[in-house]
Amino acid sequence: MTQNPHTENPIDSPAPINTDTQTDDKLLTHQADSPNDKHKRIVKTFMKRRTHMNKNAELALTDPEFADYIVNNSFGDGDLKGIHDLRVLFANSPNGSDAPLTLEIGFGLGDSFIEMAAAEPTRNFVGIEVHEPGIGKCAYMAGTQALSNVKIINGDAIQLLKQLPENHIDRIQLYFPDPWQKKRHYKRRFVSPERMAIVTRSLKTGGWFHTATDWEHYAFWMLDVLDHFDGLTNQSGAGNFADRPDFRPMTKFERRGLDRGHGVWDLIYIKD
Ligand SMILES: C[S@@+](CC[C@H](N)C(=O)[O-])C[C@H]1O[C@@H](n2cnc3c(N)ncnc32)[C@H](O)[C@@H]1O
Repeated sequence: MTQNPHTENPIDSPAPINTDTQTDDKLLTHQADSPNDKHKRIVKTFMKRRTHMNKNAELALTDPEFADYIVNNSFGDGDLKGIHDLRVLFANSPNGSDAPLTLEIGFGLGDSFIEMAAAEPTRNFVGIEVHEPGIGKCAYMAGTQALSNVKIINGDAIQLLKQLPENHIDRIQLYFPDPWQKKRHYKRRFVSPERMAIVTRSLKTGGWFHTATDWEHYAFWMLDVLDHFDGLTNQSGAGNFADRPDFRPMTKFERRGLDRGHGVWDLIYIKD
């Protein structure tokens, strides 16, 4: 366990936010359109990147051979309508719907997500991402390894979590979320009291929330938010980071952070 060397809270307290989702992907915020919500700002945790789609990713997004992996490919761009239960997605798979279930939020290009799913074939894994080249690449890797315990969703995790039942998921993992380094962007950080209320609602009692970051300010911000969150217990004891668990593979953003000389901080919390 890693001790918190700071003797007092080094971060600014997270301000209240509106966690509703929006429809315009190009904007981070917009005015809500209902007359009652006229002055509410709606905040998202991501900025969609327009990056190159490689051939394999494109193939996986279009070839019926990979269609089983991407749950909402046919609904269009990030449309989550009709997804109200992650367990039913595995009803016809060897593990079935009752197997332990992990949800990974923001898997990026999916390498570490697929590595974890391949290493634990009796656990079901659902990954959600908004970045289409990553969704394609992840589906391609799942398909070429013929994994039967993986499903991928295109869309905003906050919106998805709001649609899911309570006490539904065994583990939720969020690895190297966008750190939103500027103070005016802190409200977009995924780990906030409002978003954690949405996350913990769908976690089972005794379930895990596991996150990691290479951005020191965000690490202490997360520790502050999560240690003070009613209903979660820090597995390493309040004020402490977790040792890096063996089962978490190196992610692309982790590698990039290490190359830049950053540290890495893991946090694991159990739902009471
Ligand atoms: C900094 S990247 C980290 C990717 C990967 N986990 C890694 O460690 O290499 C964060 C990812 O989270 C995704 N993301 C952010 N907010 C999200 C949300 N609300 N729903 C789904 N994906 C989200 C972004 O699109 C981005 O790909």
